[in-house]
Amino acid sequence: MSTPKLALTDTKAAKLTADVLVIGTIAGADGPEIAPGGEEVAASFDGDLAKVLATLGASGKAEEVVKLPAGSGLRADVLLAVGLGKVTGDSPTGEQVRRAAGAAARALSGVAHAATTLGALDLGAAVQGTVLGAYSFRKYKSEPGDDPVNQVDLVVPDAKDDAAKHALKGGTAIGESVTIARDLINTPPNDLYPGSFADRASELARSAGLEVEVLDEAALRKGGYGGILGVGAGSSRPPRLVRLRHKGPKAAKKVALVGKGVTFDTGGISLKPAASMDEMTSDMSGAAAVIATMVLVSKLNYPLDVTATVPMVENMPSGTAYRPGDVLSMYGGKTVEVLNTDAEGRLILADAIVRAGEDEPDYLIETSTLTGAQVVALGKRTPAVMGDEDFRDRVAKLSQATGEGAWPMPLPEELRGDLDSKLADLANVAGHRWGGMLTAGLFLKEFVRDGLPWAHIDVAGPAYNTNSPHGYTAKGGTGVPVRTIAAVLADIAENG
Ligand code: BES
Ligand code: MN
Ligand code: ZN
Repeated sequence: MSTPKLALTDTKAAKLTADVLVIGTIAGADGPEIAPGGEEVAASFDGDLAKVLATLGASGKAEEVVKLPAGSGLRADVLLAVGLGKVTGDSPTGEQVRRAAGAAARALSGVAHAATTLGALDLGAAVQGTVLGAYSFRKYKSEPGDDPVNQVDLVVPDAKDDAAKHALKGGTAIGESVTIARDLINTPPNDLYPGSFADRASELARSAGLEVEVLDEAALRKGGYGGILGVGAGSSRPPRLVRLRHKGPKAAKKVALVGKGVTFDTGGISLKPAASMDEMTSDMSGAAAVIATMVLVSKLNYPLDVTATVPMVENMPSGTAYRPGDVLSMYGGKTVEVLNTDAEGRLILADAIVRAGEDEPDYLIETSTLTGAQVVALGKRTPAVMGDEDFRDRVAKLSQATGEGAWPMPLPEELRGDLDSKLADLANVAGHRWGGMLTAGLFLKEFVRDGLPWAHIDVAGPAYNTNSPHGYTAKGGTGVPVRTIAAVLADIAENG
């Protein structure tokens, strides 16, 4: 969907003409305080702004939104005070600014022209929060509804500096790429199936200047992609494997990305219960994140060689479906006994991970809505990251700085034996559900090239918001972990 037009300005906030002027508030010990950047607005307001806000019931708590007439001292019509919450250090964190900007942008829906002082706190975060908070997906609604805010001016003292322009460009690019992921996730499974998903991915990639290769069913058969073909066998819509490549300038490092693209997961013959099955429209969120990140990498021309390997299937029960008891011969030759057709993600990822490893990358990052156990362990908002310990911890740390907040999880060796098969090299599930997220990670590990640093990010909970919107997160597809992967790639480009 369309994103708001953003512009930098060094005009004093109090002198800005706009429909709505946004300032931040902080939850102080004795009530709301005006956040840095809003001082002039407060000074030009006719009255004691902090006191007026307190009288209106404001406290400055995170995401609180209070609107009031701006009065004669300001040129805007309406003042919108958005809460940043309690501030512990010198200033609010980037994530506090991002969430406040997101909450403000949501409250600005229907407004033509707004200005915000939040950029003075953290410009990149204010930009990201504004773009993401303004997101709405109305493609399938007959009534147009309120348009997202059309234009937002960001008030910053150094609007003409390269650093500010850079922050605007970077923040916008990240916001747009998260938007691409959200749009793909929110597209229903009757319109987004492997063939149409591959077409959309190719289109997005080509217009971003990426190299594109699509393997159709015949090519997958020829290549021996038994995992992808096995899972895809039940659907009338045949699977695909999409490969996208960015060859950046002076690329010193090669990175492989892999994302799970199950366009709908019924569970297959091991059918899921009907309740909430519709949420499995989001089972391609890993694929969406990887594709969206590739667009970003190309747009910002990262000095890296990045290849995405994205398997796309629909997991359906039918007379042609794979069954519990089948043995699949995976890409690369390992055999897997299928004990549960609902553990399909790991099967298509195994093929993709082996294929990605053949390019001899320096790092591999894979992401997927892989296990319900992820949600049980960490809840709906915190992704899990497993893999090689050093790389895992690096990914988790960078993810926390982006606000996506991935948390490191172990791959305990003793669980590996639970994946032994009576018939094949490996079974696709353990005989019990304890540590289900970890056994899934251990399964994937079997397919990672020896010595290749890798990270597996399970986003089963965080990829899809089934609750109310919050901060810069809309209902539906969230775009997690685009910002984590982007941060890891930027870090690899800089530090190797
Ligand atoms: N796509 C699901 C995982 C999932 C669950 C994602 C809830 C988002 C929300 C995955 O394919 C799946 O079905 N996993 C099974 C594995 C089990 C059979 C070992 C699960 O977690 O129940
Ligand atoms: Mn499943
Ligand atoms: Zn699945």
